[in-house]
Amino acid sequence: MNSITIQTPDDWHLHFRDGDILKETVPATARCFKRAIVMPNLVPPVTNADEALAYKQRIMAAREENSQFEPLMVLYLTNKTTSADIKAAKDAGIVAAKLYPAGATTNSSAAVKTIENLYPVFEAMSEAGLLLLIHGEVTDQHVDIFDREKAFIDQYLEKIVDDFPSLKIVFEHITTKEAAEFVSGADDNIAATITPQHLLLNRNDLLVGGIRPHNYCLPVLKRNIHQEALRKVVATGSSKFFLGTDSAPHEKHRKESDCGCAGCYSAWSAIELYTQVFDELNALDKLEGFASHHGADFYGLERNKGKITLVKEDWVIPEEIMLPNGNPIVPFFGGQTIHWKLQS
Ligand code: DOR
Ligand code: ZN
Repeated sequence: MNSITIQTPDDWHLHFRDGDILKETVPATARCFKRAIVMPNLVPPVTNADEALAYKQRIMAAREENSQFEPLMVLYLTNKTTSADIKAAKDAGIVAAKLYPAGATTNSSAAVKTIENLYPVFEAMSEAGLLLLIHGEVTDQHVDIFDREKAFIDQYLEKIVDDFPSLKIVFEHITTKEAAEFVSGADDNIAATITPQHLLLNRNDLLVGGIRPHNYCLPVLKRNIHQEALRKVVATGSSKFFLGTDSAPHEKHRKESDCGCAGCYSAWSAIELYTQVFDELNALDKLEGFASHHGADFYGLERNKGKITLVKEDWVIPEEIMLPNGNPIVPFFGGQTIHWKLQS
Protein backbone atom coordinates (compact mmCIF):
# COMPACT_ATOMS: atom_id res chain seq x y z
CA MET A 1 0.00 0.00 0.00
CA ASN A 2 1.44 3.39 -1.01
CA SER A 3 -1.07 5.69 0.56
CA ILE A 4 -3.56 5.57 3.37
CA THR A 5 -6.45 7.86 4.26
CA ILE A 6 -7.83 7.85 7.79
CA GLN A 7 -10.29 9.94 9.76
CA THR A 8 -8.51 12.93 11.32
CA PRO A 9 -6.63 11.69 14.39
CA ASP A 10 -6.23 13.15 17.89
CA ASP A 11 -3.24 13.12 20.23
CA TRP A 12 -4.40 11.86 23.63
CA HIS A 13 -1.23 12.90 25.51
CA LEU A 14 1.23 15.72 24.90
CA HIS A 15 3.09 18.66 26.43
CA PHE A 16 2.76 22.09 24.84
CA ARG A 17 4.50 24.05 27.63
CA ASP A 18 3.68 27.77 27.92
CA GLY A 19 4.73 31.22 26.67
CA ASP A 20 6.58 31.84 23.36
CA ILE A 21 7.14 28.15 22.68
CA LEU A 22 3.38 27.68 22.07
CA LYS A 23 3.91 29.35 18.67
CA GLU A 24 6.04 26.32 17.78
CA THR A 25 4.32 23.46 19.61
CA VAL A 26 0.66 24.21 18.87
CA PRO A 27 0.93 24.51 15.04
CA ALA A 28 3.26 21.47 14.93
CA THR A 29 0.54 19.32 16.49
CA ALA A 30 -2.37 21.02 14.71
CA ARG A 31 -0.84 20.15 11.30
CA CYS A 32 -2.53 16.74 11.57
CA PHE A 33 -4.31 16.36 14.91
CA LYS A 34 -7.74 17.90 15.53
CA ARG A 35 -7.62 17.65 19.33
CA ALA A 36 -5.02 16.96 21.99
CA ILE A 37 -5.01 16.16 25.66
CA VAL A 38 -2.72 18.84 27.09
CA MET A 39 -0.66 17.78 30.07
CA PRO A 40 -0.75 20.19 33.03
CA ASN A 41 2.85 19.89 34.30
CA LEU A 42 3.71 23.57 33.90
CA VAL A 43 5.71 25.43 36.54
CA PRO A 44 3.63 26.00 38.64
CA PRO A 45 1.25 23.20 37.58
CA VAL A 46 -2.33 23.69 36.39
CA THR A 47 -4.25 22.73 39.52
CA ASN A 48 -7.69 24.33 39.16
CA ALA A 49 -10.35 25.17 36.59
CA ASP A 50 -9.47 28.86 36.32
CA GLU A 51 -5.82 28.12 35.57
CA ALA A 52 -6.79 25.46 33.04
CA LEU A 53 -9.17 27.81 31.22
CA ALA A 54 -6.57 30.60 31.12
CA TYR A 55 -3.99 28.12 29.76
CA LYS A 56 -6.49 26.94 27.17
CA GLN A 57 -6.92 30.54 25.96
CA ARG A 58 -3.14 30.95 25.55
CA ILE A 59 -3.02 27.73 23.51
CA MET A 60 -5.94 28.82 21.31
CA ALA A 61 -4.21 32.18 20.73
CA ALA A 62 -1.08 30.38 19.46
CA ARG A 63 -2.98 28.57 16.67
CA GLU A 64 -2.47 29.57 13.06
CA GLU A 65 -5.27 31.52 11.38
CA ASN A 66 -8.41 29.46 10.69
CA SER A 67 -7.06 26.49 12.62
CA GLN A 68 -9.84 24.26 13.98
CA PHE A 69 -7.52 22.66 16.53
CA GLU A 70 -9.06 22.12 19.98
CA PRO A 71 -7.02 21.64 23.17
CA LEU A 72 -8.60 19.36 25.80
CA MET A 73 -7.62 20.44 29.28
CA VAL A 74 -6.47 18.42 32.26
CA LEU A 75 -6.10 19.20 35.97
CA TYR A 76 -2.90 18.31 37.83
CA LEU A 77 -3.70 16.38 41.02
CA THR A 78 -1.89 17.32 44.21
CA ASN A 79 -2.47 16.30 47.82
CA LYS A 80 -4.45 19.57 48.13
CA THR A 81 -6.94 18.78 45.33
CA THR A 82 -10.52 18.67 46.65
CA SER A 83 -13.81 17.23 45.41
CA ALA A 84 -14.95 20.83 44.89
CA ASP A 85 -11.99 21.35 42.49
CA ILE A 86 -13.23 18.34 40.52
CA LYS A 87 -16.80 19.63 40.32
CA ALA A 88 -15.58 23.06 39.19
CA ALA A 89 -13.35 21.38 36.58
CA LYS A 90 -16.27 19.39 35.21
CA ASP A 91 -18.40 22.55 34.94
CA ALA A 92 -15.56 24.28 33.09
CA GLY A 93 -15.38 21.54 30.44
CA ILE A 94 -12.15 19.98 31.71
CA VAL A 95 -12.09 16.34 30.68
CA ALA A 96 -9.56 14.67 32.97
CA ALA A 97 -7.13 14.93 35.87
CA LYS A 98 -3.55 13.65 35.88
CA LEU A 99 -1.90 11.68 38.63
CA TYR A 100 1.86 12.11 38.77
CA PRO A 101 3.55 10.36 41.67
CA ALA A 102 5.85 13.01 43.21
CA GLY A 103 9.27 13.00 41.56
CA ALA A 104 8.26 10.67 38.72
CA THR A 105 9.15 13.06 35.91
CA THR A 106 9.61 16.61 34.59
CA ASN A 107 7.99 19.19 36.90
CA SER A 108 6.38 16.63 39.19
CA SER A 109 7.76 17.88 42.50
CA ALA A 110 4.32 19.35 43.38
CA ALA A 111 2.62 16.02 42.79
CA VAL A 112 1.05 13.35 44.89
CA LYS A 113 2.96 11.87 47.83
CA THR A 114 0.21 9.67 49.27
CA ILE A 115 -2.05 8.21 46.61
CA GLU A 116 -4.53 6.77 49.16
CA ASN A 117 -5.34 10.31 50.35
CA LEU A 118 -6.78 11.00 46.91
CA TYR A 119 -9.55 8.41 47.19
CA PRO A 120 -12.30 11.02 47.90
CA VAL A 121 -11.10 12.88 44.81
CA PHE A 122 -11.24 9.71 42.69
CA GLU A 123 -14.79 9.21 44.00
CA ALA A 124 -15.72 12.74 42.89
CA MET A 125 -14.12 12.13 39.47
CA SER A 126 -16.03 8.92 39.09
CA GLU A 127 -19.31 10.75 39.82
CA ALA A 128 -18.50 13.71 37.57
CA GLY A 129 -17.28 11.53 34.70
CA LEU A 130 -13.77 13.01 34.65
CA LEU A 131 -11.10 10.59 33.45
CA LEU A 132 -8.11 9.71 35.62
CA LEU A 133 -4.84 9.83 33.64
CA ILE A 134 -1.96 8.08 35.36
CA HIS A 135 1.81 8.34 35.05
CA GLY A 136 2.28 4.82 36.32
CA GLU A 137 5.68 4.60 37.95
CA VAL A 138 6.63 4.26 41.60
CA THR A 139 9.31 6.68 42.70
CA ASP A 140 10.81 4.87 45.70
CA GLN A 141 14.58 5.24 45.53
CA HIS A 142 15.17 1.52 46.02
CA VAL A 143 13.12 0.47 42.99
CA ASP A 144 15.18 0.09 39.82
CA ILE A 145 14.16 2.56 37.13
CA PHE A 146 13.42 -0.28 34.67
CA ASP A 147 11.01 -1.90 37.17
CA ARG A 148 9.07 1.19 38.20
CA GLU A 149 6.10 0.69 35.90
CA LYS A 150 5.53 -2.93 36.91
CA ALA A 151 5.88 -1.98 40.59
CA PHE A 152 3.21 0.69 40.13
CA ILE A 153 0.78 -1.86 38.69
CA ASP A 154 1.36 -4.22 41.62
CA GLN A 155 1.35 -1.62 44.38
CA TYR A 156 -1.33 0.83 43.21
CA LEU A 157 -3.00 0.33 39.88
CA GLU A 158 -4.65 -3.03 40.49
CA LYS A 159 -6.21 -1.61 43.64
CA ILE A 160 -7.36 1.68 42.10
CA VAL A 161 -8.98 -0.17 39.19
CA ASP A 162 -10.77 -2.56 41.59
CA ASP A 163 -11.87 0.16 44.00
CA PHE A 164 -13.31 2.47 41.32
CA PRO A 165 -15.03 0.28 38.74
CA SER A 166 -16.83 3.19 37.10
CA LEU A 167 -13.85 5.56 37.00
CA LYS A 168 -12.33 5.68 33.51
CA ILE A 169 -8.57 5.37 33.76
CA VAL A 170 -5.90 5.90 31.12
CA PHE A 171 -2.59 4.26 31.94
CA GLU A 172 -0.39 6.75 30.08
CA HIS A 173 2.59 5.98 27.85
CA ILE A 174 2.87 2.31 28.76
CA THR A 175 6.28 0.77 28.19
CA THR A 176 6.17 -2.85 29.35
CA LYS A 177 4.76 -6.24 28.52
CA GLU A 178 3.22 -6.32 32.01
CA ALA A 179 1.36 -3.06 31.37
CA ALA A 180 0.08 -4.26 27.98
CA GLU A 181 -1.12 -7.51 29.58
CA PHE A 182 -2.67 -5.74 32.56
CA VAL A 183 -4.69 -3.37 30.37
CA SER A 184 -5.69 -6.10 27.91
CA GLY A 185 -7.01 -8.26 30.74
CA ALA A 186 -8.71 -5.52 32.77
CA ASP A 187 -12.31 -4.27 32.60
CA ASP A 188 -13.49 -1.79 30.00
CA ASN A 189 -12.84 1.17 32.30
CA ILE A 190 -9.08 1.05 31.70
CA ALA A 191 -7.20 1.90 28.53
CA ALA A 192 -3.66 2.98 27.65
CA THR A 193 -1.77 5.38 25.40
CA ILE A 194 1.40 4.33 23.59
CA THR A 195 4.10 6.69 22.26
CA PRO A 196 5.97 6.42 18.96
CA GLN A 197 9.31 6.07 20.76
CA HIS A 198 8.20 3.05 22.77
CA LEU A 199 7.00 1.32 19.59
CA LEU A 200 10.12 2.19 17.59
CA LEU A 201 12.93 1.88 20.12
CA ASN A 202 14.26 -0.11 23.04
CA ARG A 203 16.95 0.61 25.59
CA ASN A 204 19.74 -0.29 23.18
CA ASP A 205 18.72 2.79 21.22
CA LEU A 206 19.41 4.80 24.35
CA LEU A 207 22.72 3.30 25.42
CA VAL A 208 24.57 1.28 22.74
CA GLY A 209 27.48 3.13 21.12
CA GLY A 210 27.04 6.17 23.35
CA ILE A 211 24.28 7.85 25.32
CA ARG A 212 21.51 9.19 23.05
CA PRO A 213 19.93 12.00 25.01
CA HIS A 214 17.24 12.63 22.40
CA ASN A 215 15.87 9.13 22.96
CA TYR A 216 15.67 9.68 26.71
CA CYS A 217 12.15 9.94 28.07
CA LEU A 218 10.16 8.73 31.06
CA PRO A 219 9.12 6.05 31.55
CA VAL A 220 12.54 5.11 30.20
CA LEU A 221 12.86 2.83 27.13
CA LYS A 222 12.82 -0.84 28.14
CA ARG A 223 14.38 -4.03 26.75
CA ASN A 224 13.23 -5.27 23.37
CA ILE A 225 10.80 -7.92 24.69
CA HIS A 226 8.73 -5.02 25.99
CA GLN A 227 8.94 -3.11 22.72
CA GLU A 228 7.80 -6.28 20.94
CA ALA A 229 4.86 -6.69 23.34
CA LEU A 230 3.69 -3.14 22.65
CA ARG A 231 3.99 -3.66 18.89
CA LYS A 232 2.04 -6.88 19.17
CA VAL A 233 -0.77 -5.33 21.17
CA VAL A 234 -1.32 -2.40 18.78
CA ALA A 235 -1.36 -4.83 15.85
CA THR A 236 -4.32 -6.66 17.43
CA GLY A 237 -6.46 -3.56 16.90
CA SER A 238 -7.72 -3.72 20.51
CA SER A 239 -9.79 -0.63 21.31
CA LYS A 240 -8.09 -0.35 24.72
CA PHE A 241 -4.96 1.16 23.14
CA PHE A 242 -4.69 4.52 21.46
CA LEU A 243 -2.36 7.22 20.24
CA GLY A 244 -0.66 9.51 22.75
CA THR A 245 2.63 10.91 21.52
CA ASP A 246 3.90 12.32 24.83
CA SER A 247 5.57 14.92 22.60
CA ALA A 248 7.60 16.83 25.21
CA PRO A 249 9.86 19.65 24.03
CA HIS A 250 13.11 20.47 25.79
CA GLU A 251 15.69 22.85 24.30
CA LYS A 252 18.76 21.19 22.80
CA HIS A 253 21.14 22.38 25.52
CA ARG A 254 18.85 20.96 28.20
CA LYS A 255 18.86 17.50 26.58
CA GLU A 256 22.58 17.51 25.74
CA SER A 257 23.70 18.17 29.28
CA ASP A 258 25.29 16.33 32.20
CA CYS A 259 21.75 15.99 33.63
CA GLY A 260 19.63 15.81 30.50
CA CYS A 261 15.86 16.32 30.60
CA ALA A 262 13.42 13.51 29.80
CA GLY A 263 11.17 13.92 26.78
CA CYS A 264 11.07 13.42 23.01
CA TYR A 265 9.69 16.24 20.85
CA SER A 266 7.84 14.11 18.32
CA ALA A 267 5.10 16.43 17.06
CA TRP A 268 6.95 16.99 13.77
CA SER A 269 6.80 13.35 12.75
CA ALA A 270 4.55 11.42 15.13
CA ILE A 271 1.71 10.41 12.79
CA GLU A 272 4.26 9.43 10.11
CA LEU A 273 6.25 7.33 12.58
CA TYR A 274 3.16 5.55 13.87
CA THR A 275 2.20 4.83 10.25
CA GLN A 276 5.65 3.40 9.65
CA VAL A 277 5.26 1.10 12.66
CA PHE A 278 1.84 -0.17 11.56
CA ASP A 279 3.24 -0.70 8.04
CA GLU A 280 6.17 -2.72 9.45
CA LEU A 281 3.63 -4.79 11.36
CA ASN A 282 1.49 -5.37 8.25
CA ALA A 283 -1.31 -3.79 10.23
CA LEU A 284 -2.04 -0.57 8.36
CA ASP A 285 -5.72 -1.48 8.57
CA LYS A 286 -5.45 -1.01 12.36
CA LEU A 287 -3.92 2.49 12.21
CA GLU A 288 -7.21 4.38 11.97
CA GLY A 289 -8.68 2.72 15.07
CA PHE A 290 -5.56 3.45 17.10
CA ALA A 291 -5.10 7.03 15.87
CA SER A 292 -8.64 8.25 15.27
CA HIS A 293 -11.31 6.10 16.94
CA HIS A 294 -10.32 4.36 20.17
CA GLY A 295 -9.33 7.50 22.09
CA ALA A 296 -12.44 9.50 21.18
CA ASP A 297 -14.66 6.52 22.00
CA PHE A 298 -13.00 5.96 25.37
CA TYR A 299 -13.28 9.65 26.30
CA GLY A 300 -16.93 9.61 25.20
CA LEU A 301 -16.31 12.31 22.57
CA GLU A 302 -17.37 12.39 18.94
CA ARG A 303 -14.99 11.06 16.34
CA ASN A 304 -13.56 13.72 14.02
CA LYS A 305 -15.25 14.51 10.73
CA GLY A 306 -12.25 15.23 8.45
CA LYS A 307 -9.64 12.96 6.91
CA ILE A 308 -5.88 12.96 6.46
CA THR A 309 -3.81 11.11 3.88
CA LEU A 310 -0.32 9.70 4.32
CA VAL A 311 1.80 8.64 1.37
CA LYS A 312 4.74 6.25 1.25
CA GLU A 313 7.56 8.66 0.48
CA ASP A 314 10.99 9.08 2.07
CA TRP A 315 11.81 12.36 3.79
CA VAL A 316 14.36 13.51 6.34
CA ILE A 317 13.26 14.96 9.67
CA PRO A 318 15.12 18.25 10.30
CA GLU A 319 18.16 17.97 12.56
CA GLU A 320 17.18 21.06 14.46
CA ILE A 321 14.32 23.50 14.67
CA MET A 322 14.65 27.07 15.86
CA LEU A 323 12.28 27.96 18.70
CA PRO A 324 10.64 31.41 18.86
CA ASN A 325 13.15 32.39 21.60
CA GLY A 326 16.08 31.71 19.23
CA ASN A 327 17.20 28.48 20.91
CA PRO A 328 17.39 25.23 18.92
CA ILE A 329 15.49 22.06 19.69
CA VAL A 330 16.20 18.62 18.23
CA PRO A 331 13.01 16.91 17.04
CA PHE A 332 12.57 13.20 17.69
CA PHE A 333 14.33 11.18 14.93
CA GLY A 334 16.06 14.42 13.81
CA GLY A 335 18.29 13.87 10.75
CA GLN A 336 16.79 10.42 10.06
CA THR A 337 14.91 9.28 6.99
CA ILE A 338 11.37 8.05 7.48
CA HIS A 339 9.13 6.39 4.94
CA TRP A 340 5.70 7.91 5.35
CA LYS A 341 4.73 11.52 4.82
CA LEU A 342 1.61 13.49 5.60
CA GLN A 343 0.10 14.86 2.39
CA SER A 344 -0.53 18.54 2.92
O1 DOR B 1 9.72 11.99 29.08
C1 DOR B 1 8.86 12.63 29.63
N1 DOR B 1 8.76 13.98 29.50
N2 DOR B 1 7.98 11.99 30.42
C2 DOR B 1 7.09 12.64 31.16
O2 DOR B 1 6.35 12.00 31.84
C3 DOR B 1 7.06 14.13 31.18
C4 DOR B 1 7.63 14.70 29.97
C5 DOR B 1 7.94 16.18 30.08
O3 DOR B 1 7.10 16.93 30.60
O4 DOR B 1 9.01 16.60 29.62
ZN1 ZN C 1 3.77 13.10 29.25
